[in-house]
Amino acid sequence: MEKNHNVSRRQFLTYTLTGVGGFMAAGVVMPMVRFAVDPLLQADAADDMVDVAAVDELTEVPQAYDLEYEQDQGWHIEQVSETVWLFLEGDEVVALSSVCTHLGCTVNWGTDPDNPEQFFCPCHLGRFERDGNNVPGTPPTEPLHRYPLEVRDGRVFLGTNAQPQI
Ligand code: FES
Repeated sequence: MEKNHNVSRRQFLTYTLTGVGGFMAAGVVMPMVRFAVDPLLQADAADDMVDVAAVDELTEVPQAYDLEYEQDQGWHIEQVSETVWLFLEGDEVVALSSVCTHLGCTVNWGTDPDNPEQFFCPCHLGRFERDGNNVPGTPPTEPLHRYPLEVRDGRVFLGTNAQPQI
């Protein structure tokens, strides 16, 4: 006996709409899943430390160093270069971000002639103390961020995730 392989119009529409609907739902759901899981996958990358300087180069005067690393953006690998201010506070090494906490311009050490012992942001005249604390009455409302660091065999290694100072 021969089977009937004909598909009714109703079945055809059901199959087609189910397929298209499933495809569209996957297009919506997959980016959400990736967005949720990606930080977990990148946790190890965030823990990577980058060799930036020798401890014996450092002084109590902040000096600018380059922190260079690769960042996986999902669709390409981005080369990142950040300027970091490194200095000694007693025996402790301090690594401050150069990104102004007001609107993100670059801060420099000692470039304001009236305040040579502070970080200065030329964009809106923001100022920070040497320890990174924002000077009240200037536009920034929080301190410069600090990088996590480790000293290994006389070298300073920095994490790539500068954190707000608490
Ligand atoms: S961006 Fe630095 S003071 Fe505004």
